[in-house]
Amino acid sequence: MAKTKIARENWGSKFGFILAAAGSAIGLGNIWKFPYIAGENGGAAFIFVYLICIAIIGLPVLIGEVLLGRTTQRNPVGAFKKLSNSKFWISVGFLGVLAGFIILSFYVVIAGWSLGYIFEAINGSFYKFNQAYTSANHFTMLIQSVTWNLGFTIAFLLLTMLFVYFGVQKGIEKGSKIMMPLLFIILVVLAIKGLTLDGSEKGVSFLLNPNWKLLHGTSILIALGHAFFTLSLGMGAMLTYGSYLKKDSNIFSSSTQIVFLDTLIALIAGIAIFTAVFATGQNPSAGPGLIFHTLPVVFTKMSGGYYFAILFFFLLTIAALTSAISLLEVVVSYFVDEKGWKRHNAVIVFGGVTFLIAVPSSLSSNVLADFHIFGLNFFDLADFLASNIMLPLGGMLISIFIAWVWGFDKALVELKQGAENIFTDKPYIISAWKIFVKYFAPVLIFLVLLNSLGIL
Ligand code: PFF
Repeated sequence: MAKTKIARENWGSKFGFILAAAGSAIGLGNIWKFPYIAGENGGAAFIFVYLICIAIIGLPVLIGEVLLGRTTQRNPVGAFKKLSNSKFWISVGFLGVLAGFIILSFYVVIAGWSLGYIFEAINGSFYKFNQAYTSANHFTMLIQSVTWNLGFTIAFLLLTMLFVYFGVQKGIEKGSKIMMPLLFIILVVLAIKGLTLDGSEKGVSFLLNPNWKLLHGTSILIALGHAFFTLSLGMGAMLTYGSYLKKDSNIFSSSTQIVFLDTLIALIAGIAIFTAVFATGQNPSAGPGLIFHTLPVVFTKMSGGYYFAILFFFLLTIAALTSAISLLEVVVSYFVDEKGWKRHNAVIVFGGVTFLIAVPSSLSSNVLADFHIFGLNFFDLADFLASNIMLPLGGMLISIFIAWVWGFDKALVELKQGAENIFTDKPYIISAWKIFVKYFAPVLIFLVLLNSLGIL
């Protein structure tokens, strides 16, 4: 393909960047995963640990990733090439691009289910399966249908490709500016509905009362692992979004706002879901199935549930969409920057490749259900590899790179641009950032990795 040098794209505004990056962060991790892992690990006790992980590891690494992107104005591979040119560090960039592909391959499958559930909600089928077990059976039946499963995976992937196809400002930024406020409004409406149901206080206390007995050593590692996934860290998605920033943007304040929004949405999602689950007398511990088995039943038991069900799955789908867009953008930006491809061609080719690798994940719940590698089906393997190994590994290496290879002298010169006020008024924030990136992040993430590999 022809190598043409066209001017690199930029965000239209700082707010556009914050919404797009918050869109990447806020996804299935917040609405599908966070509520049930918080419920399983001691409610407020877990949330407390999670907030510490976000503050001392998540935020510092996010600042570092965005900084690497803005400094180099490149994709993950190009960024390491520009700053070090060592083969090892360039391969860390490749690891990010690869992780993006792997996450996409299962992310689009769950997102496809969510898209399919909008139609289930519209058809009123939740009312036909309004018992916990009939609802669970209905879900199993749907995901065992190759056409339903693959059909919605493809439809969701095509939506993702559409936004990336139109580019940074006209596709990703514009889409985020519409979808993110919509997502917020729908979630607040659902939370208000949940809080006004009789018996909702049990749901609030389930989530917000600390149950220290349920908090184990592994809960801490789960909290740290989830901090990476939910903030889209460790694979260069935030680096890539940072690379479209202009130099005058304040990385400290925008990263803090992104983390704040991501955490707020996870908490409101938890409230919206558990108030409704408790008020309608459903089992809160369905784990990953909570959203697809339990919630459909919950909706049939509340007034206006037909409409709230449609709204909920619409919300979940747009949350997943703004995240999937960022995953595809990492791959596309690599081919545009490094290989001189045209964006449109890169989107079509790598959307197609994503589809090919999503097929085995999608078929894991039906024809490939018995096909196992290392005891895991393809879907679980992709999830485990990316979320438990590649993201923490990427995050650890990115911190090591900033602190020990690139060096704080150079990093701080870059960081200061757009954030002079913090350097003069609150220098202790800068010192804290350095300590977290240099010591806390590498050591704590190393522990998470050992745990993921079953060594700890
Ligand atoms: N942060 C997303 C979520 O919470 O669902 C998942 C994700 C998106 C992870 C993009 C990594 C990434 F690069």
